[in-house]
Amino acid sequence: MRLLIMGPPGAGKGTQAVLIQKHFDIPHVSTGDLFREAVKNNSPLGVSVRKYIEHGELVPDDITIQVVIDRLKHDDCKNGFLFDGFPRTIPQAVALDSILSNLNITLDAVINVVVSNQKLMERIAGRRVCKVCNAGYHVVTNKPKVEGVCDKCGGELYQRKDDTAETVQNRLKVYNDQTKPLLDYYDKRNIIKNVNGLGEIQDTFKEVLASLGVKQ
Ligand code: AP5
Ligand code: MG
Ligand code: ZN
Repeated sequence: MRLLIMGPPGAGKGTQAVLIQKHFDIPHVSTGDLFREAVKNNSPLGVSVRKYIEHGELVPDDITIQVVIDRLKHDDCKNGFLFDGFPRTIPQAVALDSILSNLNITLDAVINVVVSNQKLMERIAGRRVCKVCNAGYHVVTNKPKVEGVCDKCGGELYQRKDDTAETVQNRLKVYNDQTKPLLDYYDKRNIIKNVNGLGEIQDTFKEVLASLGVKQ
């Protein structure tokens, strides 16, 4: 299965991606996670992308596309993948098409998680992420068993630097201006699967599976 998951900041892409990854046994490739890991390690990539992420701006296309090309070379992508947060611009989508066509493969579906703006703000404000394994939580809707501690690995939970109110406004604007047009791009190919992201996490996941034709 070769999938993309799209949607505005805070829609629940990463949360659904973890469930989709398990179900289909495909790697979850989140460019946001790859960039944050690079920033944490202070690698050359991290140094070059930090300022964009902290201001809620997009990392330049050439840097982003190269990260994806490198990640796709890993063996775990041979039987499929789920891209989360990529592509985010038309040039990135065009580059992905050409990468995939060189490999003689195509996308099976683009899952689009639909959520109201009000809900996005609540979700982002309450989000906490594990410093060690990246697992995502929410202080109200998806609490860890022990406050501030990851259920999966015992790591410390933190708030993302780009989850401040001001940066979130910019991320939403960037999404509307640069990423939303991709929905038309993929709609022309009839591969968009719109799912309602407003319900419980498991309800959205059921919609995702149904949209992909998985019998439950
Ligand atoms: P990225 O990491 O992709 O962030 P984003 O798109 O802003 O999306 P988020 O990760 O904030 O939200 P999400 O949809 O994953 O929501 P989540 O599941 O966590 O990108 C970050 C930055 O990196 C960008 O701004 C840019 O600078 C750079 N970047 C990344 N990719 C790039 C690219 N391709 N090109 C250029 N630059 C790029 O859920 C949110 C919260 O809600 C959590 O607390 C969760 O527990 C909770 N929640 C989720 N679902 C539900 C539910 N159904 N009910 C209740 N609570 C829920
Ligand atoms: Mg995410
Ligand atoms: Zn963890």
